[in-house]
Amino acid sequence: MAGQKTILRALAGEVQDVPPIWMMRQAGRYLPEYRATRAEAGDFLSLCYNSDLATEVTLQPIRRYGFDAAILFADILLVPQALGADLWFVTGEGPRLSTITDQAGVDGLKPTAEIHETLAPVYQTVRNLSRALPAETTLIGFAGAPWTVATYMIAGRGTPDQGPAHALKTGNRAVFEALLERITEATIEYLSAQIDAGAEVVKVFDSWAGSLRGEDFDRYATAPARQIIAALKTRHPGIPVIAFPREAGDKYVGFHAATGADCVALDNSVSPDWAAEQVQKDGCVQGNLAASHMVTGGEALVTETRAIVKAFRKGPHIFNLGHGITPDADPDNVQRMIDAVRGG
Ligand code: CP3
Repeated sequence: MAGQKTILRALAGEVQDVPPIWMMRQAGRYLPEYRATRAEAGDFLSLCYNSDLATEVTLQPIRRYGFDAAILFADILLVPQALGADLWFVTGEGPRLSTITDQAGVDGLKPTAEIHETLAPVYQTVRNLSRALPAETTLIGFAGAPWTVATYMIAGRGTPDQGPAHALKTGNRAVFEALLERITEATIEYLSAQIDAGAEVVKVFDSWAGSLRGEDFDRYATAPARQIIAALKTRHPGIPVIAFPREAGDKYVGFHAATGADCVALDNSVSPDWAAEQVQKDGCVQGNLAASHMVTGGEALVTETRAIVKAFRKGPHIFNLGHGITPDADPDNVQRMIDAVRGG
């Protein structure tokens, strides 16, 4: 596998002395150059749909830090928008969407084949990036997982406990499942188009998987991930997939086999030693430094980074945070983390 990109080698199961590294939300508000480009775009959604500026912000952390992977700059909520939902962002608060609570709402969504009209600029960003990135940098495309996307479509906003989505699941399971099915289908088409445009890996973000318990987790986190991954691998043989069932806890165990994911991304609520034994035995893992270290820095950042590298050193590992870097992070702490990973 010599000569291949480090991220692709890890995804193929290779154990490397120095794990490849990238960072969730690596293009984001903690970087002054991101804030400048976002101001030029006007607002967050205009930035997502402006292929030239979205390309620019994706490249910024690669130029500054030389990460091993670039992640397409976009958002998981572009899929609901492409399906016909209204979407806007309230500064300092987060996303707002029109809500879906009944069968009429599901029936009112656009046909899956029409999502590409809205999403075409995203595919253009992917094409730009596959030309512009350094030869050693892997391009990651992504989408939200059906459950996580549904939580926003049902509630019309982010919710601390995903209460409205759980209520619809209990109160009208048929509508809930019909919505999940529509999102699953759109996600397959969306990721497939990203791969056609040049994405070399795709990642599925199930940020709210942790609020699904027992059988609900199997039906609404595991099964849709399996369906998406199987469809992508049929259409694009060999395409590596990273799955991120955030806060899955014990449900991380067996998630590779249950879904067909090449890599399972870990949040920082699980201990690296436990995950090395229980999860990494089945394949590549990604993670899992607490994002708060990017704010607090100091010795703890270096000690914890080294402990994670050490815990995962016997298997395939991609170093990352356990969740996205926050706007209050210090860009110098990101460099300290990278130095601790690469310099030992
Ligand atoms: O750098 C990257 O990681 C790539 C781009 C990316 C963004 N969002 C850009 C973004 C990715 C992969 C996402 C995923 C995403 N978006 C998730 C899943 C991952 C996670 O964080 O759990 C979710 C739940 C969303 C939905 C979303 N987008 C929310 C809830 C918010 C508001 C919260 C916040 O951080 O402000 C966003 C906005 C968003 N998405 C920003 C960025 C850089 C900040 C927007 C800004 O510039 O004002």
